[in-house]
Amino acid sequence: MTSYEARKFYQDTEAAENYDAQFRRHLTIGNFRAKIFGWREERAFLHMLRQVHPKHKIALDIASGTGRYVELLLRHGYRVGGIDISKEMLSFARQRVGKNPNLLFLKQADAEKLPFADSQFDLVTSIRLYHRIPPEVRIRMLYEVKRVGKGEAILFFGMSTPWLQHRRWLRNKVIPGRLSDPYPVTEKELADEIREVGMVIQDTEWVLPFLADGLIALVSW
Ligand SMILES: C[S@@+](CC[C@H](N)C(=O)[O-])C[C@H]1O[C@@H](n2cnc3c(N)ncnc32)[C@H](O)[C@@H]1O
Repeated sequence: MTSYEARKFYQDTEAAENYDAQFRRHLTIGNFRAKIFGWREERAFLHMLRQVHPKHKIALDIASGTGRYVELLLRHGYRVGGIDISKEMLSFARQRVGKNPNLLFLKQADAEKLPFADSQFDLVTSIRLYHRIPPEVRIRMLYEVKRVGKGEAILFFGMSTPWLQHRRWLRNKVIPGRLSDPYPVTEKELADEIREVGMVIQDTEWVLPFLADGLIALVSW
């Protein structure tokens, strides 16, 4: 099992609580950025979701964290299961969606080795994980997405361009102690990795062009 910062960082109640709170609280100066980025990210996600086959209604959210996208998928008529390595994050997700009758499960599991049979889910989603894990782990994760899914996934990629690298460096200086995102991908790396596992990118949308590194993509295989 490979060790990297994002695997450990959220296995902590305070980190989970802080993560959850930035989206849940009303808009303030402190959470302005998280709220705006979160809103734009959801918008891009829903743009991809509208293109998913309408009969595809069983979804798995990988690295579901405190359940933001499990909740969104439930709201859009999906039956959803979520997995995350952090039981602390999952406990906040349970508070959020635990009572929803269409919730299939919230389970502690590793994206590198999913405890599911082949082709079990119509749709697989994973948001805000890819750029925090080393390339060799990413490839194993993509193979797992492909194995447990039936052909469609919505994935978030933290991208690297010269401008975004500069912005990231500055941000890490200004806000010390925040979780770093050490493995952003260039467009070429992303294209190579997606091709390596036999997937195809169908559509992409930047969360906030120039201001944020997030790219949401619909991929198929
Ligand atoms: C930034 S949070 C994103 C949570 C959620 N997807 C969202 O967008 O709100 C990253 C999540 O990835 C989880 N994570 C890190 N490594 C993982 C792994 N190998 N398998 C499953 N989850 C993992 C962390 O515990 C954390 O909950």
